[in-house]
Amino acid sequence: MFKVPAVSAERLPELLRRMPKAELHIHIEGSLEPELIFALAQRNGLALPYADVEALRRAYAFTNLQSFLDIYYAGASVLITEQDFYDMARAYFVRAAQDGVLHAELFFDPQTHTARGVSMATVVKGLHRACVDAQAELGVSALLIMCFLRHLSEEEAFATLEQALPFREHIVGIGLDSGEVGNPPEKFTRVFARCRQLGFRLVAHAGEEGPPAYVWTALNELKVERIDHGVQSMHDAALLQRLAQDRIPLTVCPLSNLKLCVYPDLASHTLGQLLDAGIAATVNSDDPAYFGGYMNENFTQTFAALPLNATHAYLLARNSFEASFIDKSAQQIFIKQLDESFEKFR
Ligand code: ADE
Ligand code: ZN
Repeated sequence: MFKVPAVSAERLPELLRRMPKAELHIHIEGSLEPELIFALAQRNGLALPYADVEALRRAYAFTNLQSFLDIYYAGASVLITEQDFYDMARAYFVRAAQDGVLHAELFFDPQTHTARGVSMATVVKGLHRACVDAQAELGVSALLIMCFLRHLSEEEAFATLEQALPFREHIVGIGLDSGEVGNPPEKFTRVFARCRQLGFRLVAHAGEEGPPAYVWTALNELKVERIDHGVQSMHDAALLQRLAQDRIPLTVCPLSNLKLCVYPDLASHTLGQLLDAGIAATVNSDDPAYFGGYMNENFTQTFAALPLNATHAYLLARNSFEASFIDKSAQQIFIKQLDESFEKFR
């Protein structure tokens, strides 16, 4: 294993910003900045219930997940054309590249769009074209993960899966998001089983606000390979042991947890405890346009608030590549780049 150099507290933010990393938990609709929401609304001739960008930003005061989701789905309603989806993802990739993101796995919520009459083809083609260009023009590799909205029915998830099958080659995996409490993973057992048969990689949000029991059923019933968030697992010692033993990655989103009041402050975040318990945690931005920061803000603010060091930074970045859905040889190439970036701090 790579010997991580000791890095002073003063140089740690620079290390965090420069180190290569993968982002595995980004809802692409959550990267829509207020400026782009207004630009797309104007391009599509839509009226917004906010006077300007500042008024919209002022509405971003959330008390829990649902208070955020209401605004997030309203923001996504400006997305109409394939070019809109392309422009949204392109803006994210440009921003991610600045943060040293070498690989990103983007969640998208097709049901938010198909319910408004926007076709699956429009959504996937726009996002896929942005992924192709991100690799060619920015050197960022990218994959798409389609999420089912868990507040809707399993029948609607099956219908969404059918609509996505013509684009099977552009979608690496299936996820589960939206309002967690009251919508346990087991509501989607059959549709996830079908997705598994079809060869999709599987992930699910669990243990963001919901109980550890939801993490257990995401693992045992949905048979997911990664848990998105999963921070409530801290309340269940047997679950922590299972996550560590089976190397189930958690895609943790510190600024999201802060803004949605999962923790009162970043100093209370349990990221360090998860890492020290041997869990393959990663750091991610979730919905960066809404939560006040992209990848490097998540890293630097979290490290400023917690007793985390260069070894934790290395582990988080390495975990991000190892937990990704790219093949092992591509992971090794990224990890070599990671090691080289740490060597410069020796
Ligand atoms: N959709 C977008 N962001 C989400 C989050 N943090 N939890 C659940 N669903 C989401
Ligand atoms: Zn999320």
